[in-house]
Amino acid sequence: MATVSFANDIAPTLFKYRGQMAWRLDLGSYEDVKANAAIILGQINGTAGIMPPPPFDPFPQSFIDAFNDWINGGYPP
Ligand code: HEM
Repeated sequence: MATVSFANDIAPTLFKYRGQMAWRLDLGSYEDVKANAAIILGQINGTAGIMPPPPFDPFPQSFIDAFNDWINGGYPP
């Protein structure tokens, strides 16, 4: 599998929720998403919360897997 990168695989999906989460972190910022990656993973995989919250559709498992791969791969930009 090709390396998961923030620019190609993470940012495009997170970007549309940027406004709603700006009070806490910038979902369009590589540094912010990297610094909060473990918290974000817990929110999107359902172990620590539910993001995006209802009535928004949850992210597909393929995105959750990609986010996990991105962390394990050392956060490629
Ligand atoms: C329309 C979409 C969204 C809305 C309205 C929303 C709203 C909120 C609200 C009200 C909270 C605080 C309450 C709580 O902790 O349960 C929260 C927390 C959080 N959200 Fe979102 N959110 C959205 C999308 C997202 C997305 C897409 C992500 C990440 C991919 C995200 C990441 C987080 C994180 C990491 C926290 C916890 C912050 C902390 O622990 O201090 N959110 N969100």
